[in-house]
Amino acid sequence: MRVSDQLAAKLKDLGVEVQHGVPLATRTSLEIGGTTDELILRRYDRIAEVMSLLANERIPWRFLGGGTNVLIGDGELSWVALHLATAKPGMRAEGNFAYVDASADLGGTVTFCAKHDLGGMEGLIGVPGSVGGALRMNAGAYGTQIGPHVREVEMYRAASGKVETLRGSEIRFDYRHTSFAPNDVMLSVKLELPSKPYREIVAGIRMCNEKRRASQPLNQKSAGCIFKNPPSGSAGRMIDELGLKGFRVGDAMVSDRHANFFVNAGHATCADMIGLIGSVRERVHEAYGVELENEVIVWQN
Ligand code: EPU
Repeated sequence: MRVSDQLAAKLKDLGVEVQHGVPLATRTSLEIGGTTDELILRRYDRIAEVMSLLANERIPWRFLGGGTNVLIGDGELSWVALHLATAKPGMRAEGNFAYVDASADLGGTVTFCAKHDLGGMEGLIGVPGSVGGALRMNAGAYGTQIGPHVREVEMYRAASGKVETLRGSEIRFDYRHTSFAPNDVMLSVKLELPSKPYREIVAGIRMCNEKRRASQPLNQKSAGCIFKNPPSGSAGRMIDELGLKGFRVGDAMVSDRHANFFVNAGHATCADMIGLIGSVRERVHEAYGVELENEVIVWQN
């Protein structure tokens, strides 16, 4: 979707930079995604005006964070991609609290907290993506989730059209799911973390990194786990037991390292990946009677 020059000028006054015709494959860890205009928000304080302008002009949008858990459609997209400017995100530690902008890298945040002797998030070290994305889906790994550490979230709330601060207790954090509305935009978070000596935190971080390196295809293009684990077990184990490692549709392939990671093994399209997800879901359903639910967020036209 192309934003008119007139609208781009109005957006510029609100601190938004418009980049025309950006291939979103360059913005996602799967390296899949069609083309659209990208709107980079440089001023959090003008976000409500930006959203109201887009609504008045009837411009559909999607908010893109780190692009590490999303599968984007092919071709010319019918919506624009919004995201927060990522240069120098704010990070501040004060006592047992860390105040972090949503555009910050999650791993960088874990390291920053460690340097201030704040632990509890070691498990999240290798989870790729932004703090905003981690909040939205309650990212987790190795027994840690971000949700329990959240004390406040500053966000643009779609329901009120305003920037609001929610207390942690007002937000539901479930397994890879939260009570945020799809059009809410995370801006910053206040985390409360237990004090821990730096060396202990680093030891925990190393252990998680090793486990991850041993079981996940870290140097391949993926969006992490494609399916949520069903209550009864592990999606990766079920897909593996069916002998589907290496199974492919076009260039979309079930990783030969971890069967719940689907990788772009060349020039995969969104259609390839959707085809692979569908076939694997069907095979698992036939064999186990389990309907796997996507963990990856799919944005087609
Ligand atoms: N397994 C297999 N074959 C495979 C993959 C796994 O047999 O190809 C077995 C493992 O041997 C193990 C069990 O399945 O016994 C569980 O595997 P693993 O420990 O790798 O954990 P997982 O349940 O597959 C979850 C999260 C990961 C997270 C890890 C570590 C989900 C959907 N996945 O994976 O998160 O990194 O635990 O905590 O909850 C993600 O969210 O994108 C993600 C990768």
